[in-house]
Amino acid sequence: MKVVYATEIKKGADALITGVYEGLKEVEERENLKALNFSGKPGEVAVLPGKAFKSVIYVGLGKKKDISCDRIRTAAAKGIKKAKEIKARKVVCELLGVEKLKEKSAKAVAEGLIIGNYEFNKYKSDEKFSIEKVTVAGEEEFEEAFKLGKVLAEATNFTREIVNEPGNVVTPERLAEIAKELSEEYGFKCKVFDEKKLEKNGMVGILTVGKGSKNPPRFIHISYAPKNPKGKAVIIGKGVTFDSGGINIKPEQFMKTMKSDKAGACAVLGIMKAVGELKPDIEVHALIPTVENMPDGKAYRPDDIIVYRNGKSVEVHSTDAEGRLILADALLYGSDLEPDLMIDMATLTGACVVALGHYTSGLFTEDDRLARDIEEISKETGEKVWRLPLDEDLKEEIKGAYADIQNVGKSRYGGAITAALFLQNFVDKEKVKSWAHLDIAGPAFLDKPWKYYSPGATGQPVRTVVELLLRKNQT
Ligand code: BES
Ligand code: ZN
Ligand code: ZN
Repeated sequence: MKVVYATEIKKGADALITGVYEGLKEVEERENLKALNFSGKPGEVAVLPGKAFKSVIYVGLGKKKDISCDRIRTAAAKGIKKAKEIKARKVVCELLGVEKLKEKSAKAVAEGLIIGNYEFNKYKSDEKFSIEKVTVAGEEEFEEAFKLGKVLAEATNFTREIVNEPGNVVTPERLAEIAKELSEEYGFKCKVFDEKKLEKNGMVGILTVGKGSKNPPRFIHISYAPKNPKGKAVIIGKGVTFDSGGINIKPEQFMKTMKSDKAGACAVLGIMKAVGELKPDIEVHALIPTVENMPDGKAYRPDDIIVYRNGKSVEVHSTDAEGRLILADALLYGSDLEPDLMIDMATLTGACVVALGHYTSGLFTEDDRLARDIEEISKETGEKVWRLPLDEDLKEEIKGAYADIQNVGKSRYGGAITAALFLQNFVDKEKVKSWAHLDIAGPAFLDKPWKYYSPGATGQPVRTVVELLLRKNQT
């Protein structure tokens, strides 16, 4: 689907998407809309035959005073899904809520249309209909915002498509290939460590977790380095291409969907795609530890002790708490780059989903300013986060009996926090100005449609992190 911007609406497209507020007299008095039970509530959509366009798709925006970017995204997504349903090839979409949101409307409309149009259907052999072209019609002054929205949405869908691929297709090696292809396209440097290099660099976490799989582990480092950068950021993503649990094998209802355990890694790739398009004045290093977690005669086991290159020894209590073991290597490597900002994203704990539900990520950081920035941005992107504490008192939970720390808490309470505390052991405070951890286990992958998302990967938190990098670019 091609998405373009135009300052004039040309007649003759198959469908026009137009927004309607709730509670307006004009709407309430229109018998044909009333007959369709349409009153402009958020999420509502109705189609009527038109004159200048074959069909007019009305999307509900809710009450004017409550308009928000996320309402616009949802409305645009409903509109484009309906356009697909009625098989409109050429579509025009007006800016929605522009009176109030100005340029933010153009951005949100682009995001809603593109994210809303995505579904993972490449393996379905029945005939598929796809929209040829959408023209977003608005004032010239909002075109830049539209373009930014388009980049963010395309980066999001790029992430979703990789997450949605199953473990037999996207293995650690394949993930590394994708990273290379992306780097080629945008002129990034890209290093991939195979087992020999992992060994040389003392990346014991990745090597240990990777031992149980026929698909060998990798570590990926992509770097984007503009001239005279204003700062340095490291982004890290958990890349477990399939998490069976290993020797502590998962029960079947928890194993299904574990192809999504690479969502953090894929988000990092999506963020780099946006970085390649937007070229901010800030150095960005993307780090991906990637493994497949499998049970096998060669697999690591409970009671195993591994010693990291910062001297910390770790006792394995569950081979299903593998994410933190591979992230530890990446955090140590990232620390050595001495960044201003280091942010990791990981489908790390079921406990985080228990705490916050499926629609909110856990945010951990000691830096109040960074927390505020992320919270502010997340309100606009609709990628919800909630700050949880790095509670010192829970450190006791991960104290090891025979090693410094253990990879699972002594009780299951506070599981998202004890995982974050585990990671904190591998962030070198002398070298990293500011660190945040996002536990995206809930929102990364959904089993039913929500807002503008179809079931499957959401591409969270790509838009939030890109916006954060753009903000760092300004300060
Ligand atoms: N990949 C899982 C976490 C997860 C759960 C992601 C649900 C997405 C949805 C992680 O590796 C894991 O298995 N964590 C364990 C930790 C436990 C053994 C301490 C968990 O959450 O049960
Ligand atoms: Zn696991
Ligand atoms: Zn996992």
